[in-house]
Amino acid sequence: MSTAYFSKRSVMATCIIFTVTVLWVTSSECAQIPHLRKQGTAVQLIVDDVPFLIFGGELGNSSASNLDYMKAQWPKLVTLNLNTVLAPVYWDLIEPQEGNFDFTLVDGLIREARRHNLRLVLLWFASFKNSMSCYAPIWVKANQPRFPRAQNKEGRGKEIVSVFSEENCAADARAFTALMKHLRQVDGETHTVIMVQVENEMGMIPEARDYCDAANDLFSKPVPKELMDYLVQNKNALIPEFRKTWAEAGFKTSGTWEEVFGEGLGTDEIFMAWHYARYTNRVVEAGKAEYPLPMFVNAALIRPGHQPGQYPSAGPLPHLMDIWRASGPQIDFFCPDIHFPNFAEWCENYHRSGNPLFIPEARREPQAAAKVFYAMGQHDAIGFCPFSIESTSNPENDPLGRAYDILSQLAPIILKHQGKGTMAGALLDKDHPTQQIKLGDYALKVSHDYTWSWSSGWGESGQWPRAGGLFISTGPDEYIIAGTGIIVTFAPNSPGDPIAGIASIQEGRYVEGRWVPGRWMNGDQSHQGRHLRIPANSFGIQRIKLYRYH
Ligand code: DGJ
Repeated sequence: MSTAYFSKRSVMATCIIFTVTVLWVTSSECAQIPHLRKQGTAVQLIVDDVPFLIFGGELGNSSASNLDYMKAQWPKLVTLNLNTVLAPVYWDLIEPQEGNFDFTLVDGLIREARRHNLRLVLLWFASFKNSMSCYAPIWVKANQPRFPRAQNKEGRGKEIVSVFSEENCAADARAFTALMKHLRQVDGETHTVIMVQVENEMGMIPEARDYCDAANDLFSKPVPKELMDYLVQNKNALIPEFRKTWAEAGFKTSGTWEEVFGEGLGTDEIFMAWHYARYTNRVVEAGKAEYPLPMFVNAALIRPGHQPGQYPSAGPLPHLMDIWRASGPQIDFFCPDIHFPNFAEWCENYHRSGNPLFIPEARREPQAAAKVFYAMGQHDAIGFCPFSIESTSNPENDPLGRAYDILSQLAPIILKHQGKGTMAGALLDKDHPTQQIKLGDYALKVSHDYTWSWSSGWGESGQWPRAGGLFISTGPDEYIIAGTGIIVTFAPNSPGDPIAGIASIQEGRYVEGRWVPGRWMNGDQSHQGRHLRIPANSFGIQRIKLYRYH
């Protein structure tokens, strides 16, 4: 046997071993646990190592309590083009006896979500669900001496477990730990579950604070040093509404709650927020120690003019965000459940001070389809989720499905532009018919389709569907525009010739990231070169090129 022959064989063998090793290593390497990552000013959710946008919907409260009931719901969710379902996990059903866990429902949800190619965000309905403790197991509810309740001024218990009880918090944290451990075991590699909401719309009602002995005692003591230090350190970056409260009480840096923040319901709420956040932080911390998925909390919003106690007070509301952050550092972000019509305002209120926007509940209505373009375009939203999504009666024709179809096509481009100042959104209705946007080298005037006298809806009954748009500046003189019910005109916003003209507009679709062109939108479709239009009640993507003249 010649040496040349020998070395050729050994080289081949080495190559085969190397290739097999590489293949084995690659296939056995699993993606990281879903996590959050910053990109410019945005916070992105990373799933299987790539940024992910949630086109979601939240199930009605009781739907996930029966797998047979859910059977008929999954196909609807797929037809609506969801990629993620928000589904409750009920403490009373997973721990019917203390220490005995039953994860049948959780496993069933994961199995069916995978079968339908969907991800899950689980909602931990435990100590608090819309203020109340209705999801606490009966062995908690019926043992008041061990699991004390919040009390009113007269000392009567409420159907709300007290955040001042160590035992309450420890029981919740143990159950949550068991859940997260189970998730790691059954889903730690597949990542069907991508985030967890801890509790649901916590808050005190109908009084702004708990009057149990432990609460009264702490309320008369000094504000914890941790909170004072946080406020002093972040004095100039505090949420303005909260800073104003502290300023009006004289910016004191020590004293009792009433000395530092003044007397009144607002101070009761601040005190409770600190303790709700502390309690939740412990639950989150315990769960993350087993399996550190991103974890967030959600808030019921305030009706105009309502005082603390008249709404679920002390939840993660914008004016309490600093308190929640100081007391709950393990909580990744704070979310609004937006069922009120002033959607844009609540988006702005939550997308501040480094908090990313994720909307775990939005009102389920045809207008939701316009809102999602705004939330993603203007606020780099991580996701959007109409509530009771399985109640959609005609999913084939629901506008949300059409919006999600378009946004799913654009997702890689949206994700590339998040946090870089190259993307914007608009949300229009009869009361807000136009919006000005400065983006790239142009100012865009975005108008509701019905402001145009040639539009088919003009002059009709007075009902204007909401219009929504997402705008991406993709290069000099170029934009991608998507949405429903919008008309866009352009004016230069940088040095050069002062008039903008339309070079071309093309409609189309993105298929696996590749642009598949449709019609050239000229003539009547661009009002003879005057504007770009996506009519009301239709959804589309158009790419426009501009030029300038004088
Ligand atoms: C807000 C709650 O978070 C949900 O669980 C649900 O009950 C809705 N309100 C109903 O609108």
